[in-house]
Order: sequence, then structure tokens, then C-alpha cells
Amino acid sequence: MQQRDWGFAVDFHFPVSFTRDAFAPDNGVLADLMAPAADEPPSRAVVFIDTAVLAARPGLVRDIHAWFAAHAARHITLAATPEPISGGEAAKQGLAVVERVARVGVDLGLCRHSYVLIIGGGAVIDAVGLGASLFHRGLRQIRLPSTTLGQCDAGLGVKNAVNLFGLKNLIGTFTPPWAVVDDSRFLESQDDRSWRAGLAEAVKVAVIKDAAFLDRIEALAPALARRDLPAMEEVVERCARLHLEHITTSGDPFEHGSSRPLDFGHWSAHRLEALSQHRLQHGEAVAIGVALDALYAARIGRLTTAEAERIVAILTALGFRLWDATFDLRDADGHRQVYAGLTQFREHLGGRLTLAMPAGLGSRADIGVFDEALCESALAVLRQLARRSAARVSSRTR
Ligand SMILES: NC(=O)c1ccc[n+]([C@@H]2O[C@H](COP(=O)([O-])OP(=O)(O)OC[C@H]3O[C@@H](n4cnc5c(N)ncnc54)[C@H](O)[C@@H]3O)[C@@H](O)[C@H]2O)c1
Ligand SMILES: [Zn+2]
Repeated sequence: MQQRDWGFAVDFHFPVSFTRDAFAPDNGVLADLMAPAADEPPSRAVVFIDTAVLAARPGLVRDIHAWFAAHAARHITLAATPEPISGGEAAKQGLAVVERVARVGVDLGLCRHSYVLIIGGGAVIDAVGLGASLFHRGLRQIRLPSTTLGQCDAGLGVKNAVNLFGLKNLIGTFTPPWAVVDDSRFLESQDDRSWRAGLAEAVKVAVIKDAAFLDRIEALAPALARRDLPAMEEVVERCARLHLEHITTSGDPFEHGSSRPLDFGHWSAHRLEALSQHRLQHGEAVAIGVALDALYAARIGRLTTAEAERIVAILTALGFRLWDATFDLRDADGHRQVYAGLTQFREHLGGRLTLAMPAGLGSRADIGVFDEALCESALAVLRQLARRSAARVSSRTR
């Protein structure tokens, strides 16, 4: 028998822009992304919008129509009035949103050169993004994430997914976007929880990749906690850059290997999200997971106790609550249910456990063994620190 390898390489590039008010009539960021070249037919676009964004900005649909009218001379047309998509994790439950995107695509006769603009939180970006990646095997997807988490993490990557059979992100693809536009005007209308949630990903990536960024987040924490937009723009942009650098330079953008540095703190976070039936937002659960793994890292000599407690203090200053009652849920045999998160991580990675851990502040090295007894001691400290900070907050507000 003869065997021969056949192969090819595909180079992906996508621009990521930072702007304020992408649909102001004189804002040309989106036009530069969609305008056809002289020998190409006019561009057609559809827009899907998270319903919470629509509720927070009632004039947005009108602004979008006006923006397309203002850029008609560049041969960009809006194929239909924007489609609302119910936001939050519900958007990712099952394949309904994926089918909806396909239905819209068929009804409007979209082709592989059509643009799909997705405005929404990470959940809407994931669900519509999956639909757009499947329709005709992939439309040109321009993401406009509207949450902190979306702008500094979820909206930038090359993955999308929906949940099925009760399992998070079970069905999805690796599909690089055509472009990403981080429009900070969207950040203003988030509620306090969403405003804060994405900052957990900034602390996460700072701890394992950039100690100076952690210093900066610490310095900006009071401004971030009082919703200062320029402070948020600075953190979002730096966090986004660190995520993008990882995706584009780590050598494993489609995650064929088992190392997942950007999933530091996520083994428990994913589990806590599910155990809380999504009462905890992804970012809120990540804050807890990062705090827990920082304290664990101190127990295996990867951080000093002072460094780990500093991470906990920064997350607390940003306003996160670092203990959740779901930690106390146990199986019939008394085993904490959160530990199933380790099994799920192991299964997802193909049978071998690989967890990202800090190796000193600002760098990381994976571990392959996890000691539950040490985690119990980290949990005891986390519970105590979280209680202390909750008591401080309630005495201040009394
Ligand atoms: N694909 C990836 O690489 C990736 C990475 C990280 C997270 N994710 C996914 O992202 C999701 C979490 O994203 P999220 O934290 O953005 O939460 P989310 O999408 O659930 O949004 C949170 C809430 O805010 C609302 N909202 C969105 N933008 C708003 C705005 N500008 N003003 C007012 N309300 C607004 C939403 O409707 C929702 O109710 C999870 O499903 C997670 O699995 C995906
Ligand atoms: Zn995350």
C-alpha cells in the first residue's frame, strides 16, 4: 500500500477596530470593512441585534437605517430591517437561533459574499455566529460585541457554539470573523453586572500573561467600579490585545492540542455557571474561578500567598462576590459537585487533564494533576475572604 500526504495552508486575517458610536452617520469604520472594490457587485448586509441592546437604545434601528442611507454611495445596502434576537444564555439553548439565521438567509437570498452584522452579548454573538458560519458554509461575519465580556474576549475569538442536551457549547465551529468592531458606546447601557463581568477575563489574562496589566487594573479599579468609560475602554483594548495575541501567535488557534491558557480559572467557572442554572453570568463565575485557582496556585508554590490574596483583593475591589452557594452542593456521597468540572474539562481535552496555572505573576505553566485536598484548603480561605469583604460592604452601606 502506498500513502501520501496532501495538505494546504490557509492564512486568516481579520481587522479589530476600537471606536465610539459605529452607527454615527460620519463613522466610516464599518464602511471601510464592507465597501466593495471597483470590480465587485454592491455589498448586502443583514443585522442581528440582541433585544436587550434594542431595549436600552430605542433609536438604534433608526440610526442603522440612517447609517446605511448615508453610505449608499459606497455601494453598501441593508437587505432588510434588523432582526431582534432574545439575548442572554437563552439565545444559545438549542439550535433555534441557528435555524432562524438560515431562514433569514434563504428569505433574503443571501450569498457567501453577504455581510452579517451581529450586535449583542457573547451569547448572541455565539449563536448567530454559528448560524452565519453554517449558512452556505459561511457568510462574512462582522461582530459588534455589546458587553464588556464580548469586547474583551468572547467576540474576538475564532470559536462559536450553542448548548445542546444540557451541555454548554456542545455544538459549534472554529470560524474566524470577517472583522470585529468594539464600539464602546454599547458598553454604557449594560447593567452593573454585565459592565463588571468581563473584567474577570481581564484579571485572568493579566495574571497569566501580563503582570503590568494587573498593576494597571488595580490602579483603575475604583474608576472601573464607578463606571468610568475611558478607564473601561483602556482595559477592554488591552485585554482584547492579549487575547488576540494568544489566538494568533500561540500556534494552536483551533485548539488541536490540550493546552488552554485562556481557560485559566474556567474549570470551576463553567461548572458554577451550570450549577447555578446560569444565575451566575460567565464573567461572574470566572471571577470566582480565578480567585480559587489563584489560592490553589499559592498552595502548589506557583504564587506567594500575598500575590494570591492580592488577586482576590483586586477582584473584590472591582465589585465581584467571590463565594457562591453552589460550592456547597454535594453528591449523594458527599463529594462537592463543582469537582465534576475537572472531569468535564478532562473529557473535553481528550482524556488528559491540563489546567493553566500561573507560574509567578504574569506567566503560566500547565499542571496535569489536581489535588482536591489542597483545593479544599483554598476553598476554606476563599469563603473566609469573601465573607470578610461582604461584611465590609454591608457595614459601609448601613
Ligand atoms: N466564543 C467564545 O470564544 C466565547 C468566549 C467566552 C465566552 N463566550 C460565551 O459568551 C457568553 C457570555 O457573554 P456575555 O457575558 O456577554 O453575556 P450575555 O451575552 O449573556 O449578555 C448578558 C446580558 O446583557 C444583555 N446585553 C448585552 N449587551 C447589552 C447592552 N449593550 N446593554 C444592555 N444589555 C445588554 C444581554 O441580552 C444579556 O441579558 C457565554 O455564553 C459564554 O459561553 C464565548
Ligand atoms: Zn471565559
